[in-house]
Amino acid sequence: TKQIPEIKMIDSTFNVVTEGYNFVGKRMAQLETDVFEARILGKKMIVMTGRDAAELFYDESRIKREGAMPKRIQKTLFGVNGIHTKDGQKHKIRKAMFMSMMTEERLAHLRTILQEEWKRKGLEMEQKKRAVLFDESEELILRAMCRWTGVPLTDAESWRRAYEVGVMIDAAGGVGKRYREGEKVRTETEGWIQEVIEAVRDGRMKAEEGTPVHTVAFHEEEGELLDAHMAAIELLNVIRPAVAVARFVAFAALALHDFPEWKDKLSTTKELNNFANEVRRFYPFTPFLPAVVKEDFEWKGYLFKEGRHVILDVHGINRDPLIWEEPETFNPDRFNDFVDDRFNFIPQGGGDPDTGHRCPGEQIAVMIIEESVRYLNENLSYDVPEQDLTINMVRMPTLPKDRFIMDNISVKEN
Ligand code: HEM
Repeated sequence: TKQIPEIKMIDSTFNVVTEGYNFVGKRMAQLETDVFEARILGKKMIVMTGRDAAELFYDESRIKREGAMPKRIQKTLFGVNGIHTKDGQKHKIRKAMFMSMMTEERLAHLRTILQEEWKRKGLEMEQKKRAVLFDESEELILRAMCRWTGVPLTDAESWRRAYEVGVMIDAAGGVGKRYREGEKVRTETEGWIQEVIEAVRDGRMKAEEGTPVHTVAFHEEEGELLDAHMAAIELLNVIRPAVAVARFVAFAALALHDFPEWKDKLSTTKELNNFANEVRRFYPFTPFLPAVVKEDFEWKGYLFKEGRHVILDVHGINRDPLIWEEPETFNPDRFNDFVDDRFNFIPQGGGDPDTGHRCPGEQIAVMIIEESVRYLNENLSYDVPEQDLTINMVRMPTLPKDRFIMDNISVKEN
């Protein structure tokens, strides 16, 4: 077998932290490779990029999740020992719970909710005249998701809760204070949702069948309900990542601002969908994903040893010139003739969401972007005042610096 190109440093964690989204691509270019080995967070890891690497990453006979996700990311972003960390049959049963929420009917209901919430938000923003789109979107999405999942949320608490969920998401790539803040708000937010689960279970709160609150509260594994805390973690695994879509909403607004020629090409369902997908491809979000080699195997002449950690370069695959023509150009039309093979467009993971770890929330994410772009483009008039809209590629997750400030906001009469 061939030797996997190696970064000759005792530990590269510092470079990951200081280079962020650029770390992997830079090393791949320097070493002229699509696989390399480095020591990160004290562990030897194989970092890999490209479509074929994605296919390997999702091959469950060779790659597993147990032991892969750093505890610090579980304690902030995902919740400890939730679905992200499970393998095999345990994972499939848990995953079916998530997928059962995504029926056509339930998703159509979410679209209606999003349209109603944008109407309300438009009026609120008109009153304020000036607003920060990212913050407004987090609050709007939290409201929409609480309605959709069946979690009660009062007007008095929606901003605070949205802020706290936002901190959890932001803490994932953080160290020091940013990390500790994330851990703290996760504990609080889990407590809030756990109380809802317990109230639904003992009948103090009514939950309609088919709502995610009901689904999670009464989901059984081997004849038993989930521990109430685990149920809270998993229900939060629906609400939290949806709130994270506010990043894509801010990026979508930035795209409308930077590439205004697309504003007139958003009238059909297909055009709106292409735009949402290009936002998911073009702007940085998920940097990479971790897993572990299940047993020894050889791939492209390289030996992957049992227990070795592997990292899939999600961000790089979104910009891979072997997959995308002119990857650095924002071009929604590229999706008109794009052939998706489940491993070549993976901003939310690859493979099959029913059986593997691919994100179950892609339709929700796309829908939130679509409805936001539709509203911003068709129903709202606003100025984009002088501000810092640069995207810091070192920070993970990232965002336009000033979170997209809008001014002179008014609802269009149409
Ligand atoms: C998994 C990204 C929105 C729920 C994932 C994964 C990624 C991802 C990269 C990991 C795939 C893997 O481990 O192989 C995103 C992004 C989103 C988003 C960038 C938008 C900002 C959503 C939404 C939901 C959701 C709206 C709501 C249902 C989940 C769950 C998993 C997951 C439950 C774990 C799946 C599993 O381990 O089987 N997501 N996601 N995500 N996502 Fe999302």
